[in-house]
This record gives sequence, structure tokens and C-alpha cells, in this order.
Amino acid sequence: MSVKLNILRQEGSNQPISWDMTRWPHMLISAPTNGGKSYFIKYLLCVINLHLSASFCVIMDYKQGIDYWQWRDNENVFLGDSVYDGFNKAYSIFENRRTNPDKKYPPFFLVFEEYQSTVESIVKKSDKEAFLKKVGNLLRLSRQVNYHLICICQRIDASAFPAGGRENFAAKIAIGRLSPQAKQMLFPDDEDINRNKGQGEVNVQFDGQPVIEAKTYTIRDMNKAEQLITDLLSRGLPLSEEAVARSP
Ligand SMILES: Nc1ncnc2c1ncn2[C@@H]1O[C@H](COP(=O)(O)OP(=O)(O)O)[C@@H](O)[C@H]1O
Ligand SMILES: [Mg+2]
Repeated sequence: MSVKLNILRQEGSNQPISWDMTRWPHMLISAPTNGGKSYFIKYLLCVINLHLSASFCVIMDYKQGIDYWQWRDNENVFLGDSVYDGFNKAYSIFENRRTNPDKKYPPFFLVFEEYQSTVESIVKKSDKEAFLKKVGNLLRLSRQVNYHLICICQRIDASAFPAGGRENFAAKIAIGRLSPQAKQMLFPDDEDINRNKGQGEVNVQFDGQPVIEAKTYTIRDMNKAEQLITDLLSRGLPLSEEAVARSP
């Protein structure tokens, strides 16, 4: 059975575009500053809360900007330098699930804002390699345990990903103007892409399908949206899973 979420609408027709998160578990989002990355993430978190009532979510934002500040005290929100701890915590949820991969798990989303800046901030080469190895494991092995990595980048550089890792992002979304470099990283095989997009305007591609021109949905009531995100985050971390996996 697949789970689908309407996350974007088609340019022109406004028909909903759905993300089949069973088939395409991981998402890579790229946009220039002010392109609307965080705005889109907020919309996505609302959709997740409304449609997946049993899901869990961890948010990491190295930039520590205003976007998630109001949720900074949540145990599943990691800002600034706490993102490294956050990543390890989120990774341990994956490892716990992998010890019993045939069990049914509720959806888990690791929302990784400023992904590329985070990787670049890791000074020691061996630490960076260890980090990228874990990202690679998540990308390759977490589908079966209903674990979804949502990576958000301002720039996309191959060096921020484990070897072959980018190909495991089966859902790719570029919001706003698409730089030639980002085009090459995200949609290398598609020659006639409209790169001239503005805020909230999107090129989206699911594995094996053509690039679609789309738009983000408008958040009509930001207070209500933030309330929905508060609800989602108040579910905390799936710690009961951890307890089960750790018990002898
Ligand atoms: N589709 C949109 N419709 C209306 N306002 C938007 C849209 N996308 C972004 N914004 C607004 O533009 C500003 C920058 O968006 P933001 O999501 O913070 O960009 P980014 O995270 O890519 O830097 C914010 O004030 C946001 O509310
Ligand atoms: Mg942002």
C-alpha cells in the first residue's frame, strides 16, 4: 500500500501533485535564499500532521534562524550546533527500527534544513566521512522502516553527499530560480527545463518521470499552520521503539 500526500499543484491547471512517499521515500529540496524553502516545509509539516496522524518528525536547522525558533524547546527540534546531537538521535531511531525491520512503523521524517551548510561545518575529515556514511545508510536502508529524509539545501554540491547518495533522492524539488549548477545536480538529463522561476514556483521530478512545472500551495492562515506544526512536534520522539530495541 502506498501513502500519498498532495504537496504541490501543477502550474496552469492547479491539479494537485502527490508525493508517493512509499515509492519515493526521500526528498531533496533546493532553492536560493528567500526562494521559499522553509515556507514549503511548513506547508509540508501541516499536511503531514493532517494526513498522517501517527507520524513523527525531527527538525534540524543549523542556521538557527527565525523559522523554527518558536519550537526550539521541543525535544525533536535541533537548532545551531545541537544539530550534530540531533542527527545522532535521529540516526539511532533508524538503527533501532533496522534491528526489527519487518515490524510496521509509523512514518518518521527527518527534516534537515541547511543540509549542505551543516556538512560543510564539520571540520574534521574523518568526522565528515562518518557523517556522510550515515547519510548514505539512511538513504539506502530506511525505506523499509518508513523513515524519510527530507534534505533542504541552498546550494547543492556533490561533495555534501555520500557517493551515489544523491540518486537515492527519488523526489527532487527546486523552488525559485534554478541555477545552472543546481540544474546539473538535480535534473542532469533534462535539457529544456524552465529555470526562470520565482518564489513559490517549482520544478519537481519523481524518479523515472518527467520534470513537472508546479507551484507551492499558499498558506492562508499562518497562525493555524503554526498550530498544526506545534501539534505535530508535540508528539515528540518515538522513544517507545527505542526502549523495546534496547531491552535485553
Ligand atoms: N509561496 C509563497 N507565497 C507567499 N509567501 C512566500 C512563499 N514562499 C515564501 N514566502 C515568503 O517569503 C519569505 C522567504 O521565504 P522562506 O521560506 O523563508 O525562504 P528560504 O527558506 O528559501 O530562505 C518568507 O517571508 C515567506 O513567508
Ligand atoms: Mg529557510
